[in-house]
Amino acid sequence: MNTKPKIYIPRPNFPQVIERLQSHFEVIHNQADEVVLHEHYVAKAAQSDGMLTTGSDLINEALLKACGSLKICANMAVGFNNFDLEGMTRAGVLATNTPDVLTQTTADFGFALLMACARRMVESEHFLRDQQWKQWRFDLLAGHDVHGSTLGIIGMGRIGQAVAKRASKGFDMKVIYHNRTQLPAATESALEATWVELADLLAQSDHVMLVLPYSAQSHHMIGARELAMMKPGAHLINIARGGLIDEDALVDALQSGHLGGFALDVFEGEPKINPRLLTLKRVVLTPHIASSTIQTRLKMSNLAADNLIEFFAHRKAITPLNPQVLEP
Ligand code: GLV
Repeated sequence: MNTKPKIYIPRPNFPQVIERLQSHFEVIHNQADEVVLHEHYVAKAAQSDGMLTTGSDLINEALLKACGSLKICANMAVGFNNFDLEGMTRAGVLATNTPDVLTQTTADFGFALLMACARRMVESEHFLRDQQWKQWRFDLLAGHDVHGSTLGIIGMGRIGQAVAKRASKGFDMKVIYHNRTQLPAATESALEATWVELADLLAQSDHVMLVLPYSAQSHHMIGARELAMMKPGAHLINIARGGLIDEDALVDALQSGHLGGFALDVFEGEPKINPRLLTLKRVVLTPHIASSTIQTRLKMSNLAADNLIEFFAHRKAITPLNPQVLEP
């Protein structure tokens, strides 16, 4: 008898995508959103041939060792720092992610955070709700202009470029960026973006946005030293990964009055939040939702499902991260 491959989906997902997967696979899902203890997560993964993971599902050496039948993990995220990619490749486990489908939505949100932070929107809302608004004042909750200011983008992949386009075309901003590789001249000129050294970016930008992948190399790339190099009154926006920033140094930089504000959608150790962050006013904090529109999350879910279906039907994938695993 031909048995269907088993797919484990540890977190709830779109019912229509689960149904689609059920027509190809035996699906172990968690639509009830039950809290799954780590040992149960590993035990379920160990019964599976494939997984549809999210950024909070760790695929590490220990899990790979315990899960000899696992052949593919399809991440419903563009970032994949929850994967030990080298370990997966060594174990012959295919890794896939969901690039492109979330680029514009994530860039929209990065821009929303930039605007909310520079114009103190969250703080203003709290001020109003707390019934502190008594009369007009010339400098009431005065922020910083976005149009015409300088945006420094660290990491200039697809999302960084989509942010740059919004900034230069829509808000007449000067865009500078820092990336390991400089973009081709034609792309730079289309985006009206200029490559600069990191130190120059930090010194010149009114707003700095992080849009680069997180890795051991980029861990705490923004610490006390880099924050001190930022322009007084500047803003920092992070839509990439929390571990890029030393959060205690960030709080110190705001409390000393050096930074004008910051906006974070991602946190080191999320969903746990450094309690010092919660005491601050001039900040915007959101729970890792930059790609969260129903349209985009559905596209991400379907792309992860397509990778699983394609892999088990044809030993191919649409967006593989370690395609060498597919080589004969
Ligand atoms: C979200 O953070 C993603 O990597 O897709």
